[in-house]
Amino acid sequence: MHSFSELSALFDAHFNKKQFPAEPKNLYDAAQYILDLGGKRVRPICVLLANELFTDLTTDAYNVASAIELFHNFSLIHDDIMDEAPLRRGKPTVHTLYGQSTALLAGDVMFAQAYDNLTRIEMRYVKDIISLFNRTSKEVCEGQQMDMDFENLDVVHIDAYIQMITLKTSVLIGASLQLGAILGGAGKDNQRHLYEFGKKLGIAFQIQDDYLDAFGDPTIFGKQPGGDIVANKKTFLAIHAGEVANDIQKQKLESVYKESDATKKVSEVLAVYKECGVDEWASALKQQYYDEALLQLEEVAITSSRKKELYTLAEKLIWRDV
Ligand code: IPE
Ligand code: IPE
Ligand code: MG
Ligand code: MG
Ligand code: MG
Repeated sequence: MHSFSELSALFDAHFNKKQFPAEPKNLYDAAQYILDLGGKRVRPICVLLANELFTDLTTDAYNVASAIELFHNFSLIHDDIMDEAPLRRGKPTVHTLYGQSTALLAGDVMFAQAYDNLTRIEMRYVKDIISLFNRTSKEVCEGQQMDMDFENLDVVHIDAYIQMITLKTSVLIGASLQLGAILGGAGKDNQRHLYEFGKKLGIAFQIQDDYLDAFGDPTIFGKQPGGDIVANKKTFLAIHAGEVANDIQKQKLESVYKESDATKKVSEVLAVYKECGVDEWASALKQQYYDEALLQLEEVAITSSRKKELYTLAEKLIWRDV
């Protein structure tokens, strides 16, 4: 069994080669640019970790891990266009540097490149792997559409928020684990518990993402401070504040809703968030999904010493600051 950092080095050795041809230069430079910015590589490591629960790491697991990381980066390029985000991983976003059309195409080409990796896997796995991959891709689109739709709503219920983040973020983490398990020859029950573990963990992961968007250290987190506030995203912070705010706070939130000075808007909304005790609420909500995730991991019928790295990963992901 390898640790997260060992798997990360193994994956990088496989993945960090030049991925694309030279021409058209703008297109492939843009695609290579986001890959070179790195990131945590959480999803491909999930593929490898789950694979290694059941077998020695397989070549297929590396191919699927690469496909997942390409898909993830494709979704980030398109997400940054949709969110009008200027920064990603501490650097200008792809559309900021290369323009929107090239960014869209760079995302598209990476999605196709993901499938190139999937065509390399053993025939007997292709159907299961591609159908889970496709289902998950569609769900991410559904979640992203809900995320955009919610920008225009005044009130979003917490249940709808959880459904939205499940689709846009957490199913990909669940799928990464299940894909690795499938390639390791895991039985259906183990596959299902790993998927559910990833799904619950992914919810806690997105809650932390929303929290860091507002309260993280931008030099570490690498995104525009308060980007979700500027874009009127219905994060759980916004939802919670909307529920517990007193009349004065509510008025303040309403009056800055259309504020065009982003810095002013962010600082005023953050002040209300703080007064509303979002900190404790964030911790409690994260903890709830973290606990539920661990229950699923316990159900995976494998000696618990082999699951150690998954426990460590879970903890790391929900208390992360990057
Ligand atoms: C960012 O994912 C998108 C979300 C689902 C919150 P990560 O936080 O895993 O991004 P990188 O790949 O490490 O940059
Ligand atoms: C992104 O959610 C989910 C996907 C990319 C599918 P966010 O919009 O919160 O992700 P960041 O914060 O830009 O990374
Ligand atoms: Mg975004
Ligand atoms: Mg988004
Ligand atoms: Mg975010």
